[in-house]
Amino acid sequence: MPRFAYVDGRYVPHDAASVHVEDRGYQFADGVYEVAAILGGRLIDQEPHLDRLERSLAALDIPMPRPRPVLAMLMRELIARNRVRDGLIYLQVTRGVAPRDHKFPTGIAPTLVMTTRRTDWLKQKRLSEGVKVITVPDLRWARCDIKTISLLPNCMGKTEAAAAGAYEAWQVDRDGFVTEGTSSNVWILTADNRLKTRALGPEILRGVTRDSLMRIAAEEGVSVVEEPFTVDEAKQAREAFVTSATSFVTPVVQVDDTVIGNGRPGSLTERLLRWYIDYCTGLRQEAG
Ligand code: PDD
Repeated sequence: MPRFAYVDGRYVPHDAASVHVEDRGYQFADGVYEVAAILGGRLIDQEPHLDRLERSLAALDIPMPRPRPVLAMLMRELIARNRVRDGLIYLQVTRGVAPRDHKFPTGIAPTLVMTTRRTDWLKQKRLSEGVKVITVPDLRWARCDIKTISLLPNCMGKTEAAAAGAYEAWQVDRDGFVTEGTSSNVWILTADNRLKTRALGPEILRGVTRDSLMRIAAEEGVSVVEEPFTVDEAKQAREAFVTSATSFVTPVVQVDDTVIGNGRPGSLTERLLRWYIDYCTGLRQEAG
């Protein structure tokens, strides 16, 4: 079955999908994106992803490419056309096409691109076995709360992780505190049993999965402390995990050369993952 991409109003075969060479996304990384998971045919957290898209666009003074209900409808249409039951949808908005000039041009229309990919999330061993992560210096800019397509430091970190046989790289700020993964938020259960994740701010992306898991944890009576933690604190943690639309709640069993806990996914992490999957599949009935 052919796979389609959505490019500015048209559904085109994925292999033939393209944008103009003077698209500002191509020349300046002048754009933002979202990735949302699809599980059992359900698009997970569509509204919070669209909320964040609106925030990212507003921060960069890029207009919404379509009214929000139209965007939501186009996403569902692409997923249906590509018959994705388990996978993801990628949505990217750039400022648009203009002759190369650093300053933001006026009067151009944003470019909207969407693609999908199939993945059988729940068959992935990393959820049951956990993963290794490495730590790298955080080389990024001062507005990591904007989900911009400018991802070079993230790509460098992820490449270094892969070379070390790790799933993710945890980025570390100048004071030795972990900010976040290159494409995930980071959590630990400290040696004294406190579930910690870094507080929101310009140093990290506000993960949609992070938000959902915070809500689920609160419903289950698990308190979360929003505080920074150092690499040393993480290495002494009882448990650790990362969250993202595509990682769900992925247990971390090794940080650099240090094994976390007994080297197996922690029991709180496993419960959080189960609750999160139940939320995604609709087994949890709380108000989203
Ligand atoms: N990344 N932090 C960063 C830097 C991210 O890129 C992501 C998501 C997250 C988690 O956000 P969410 O829970 O909304 O997925 C945190 C996506 C999955 C990506 O770039 O592929």
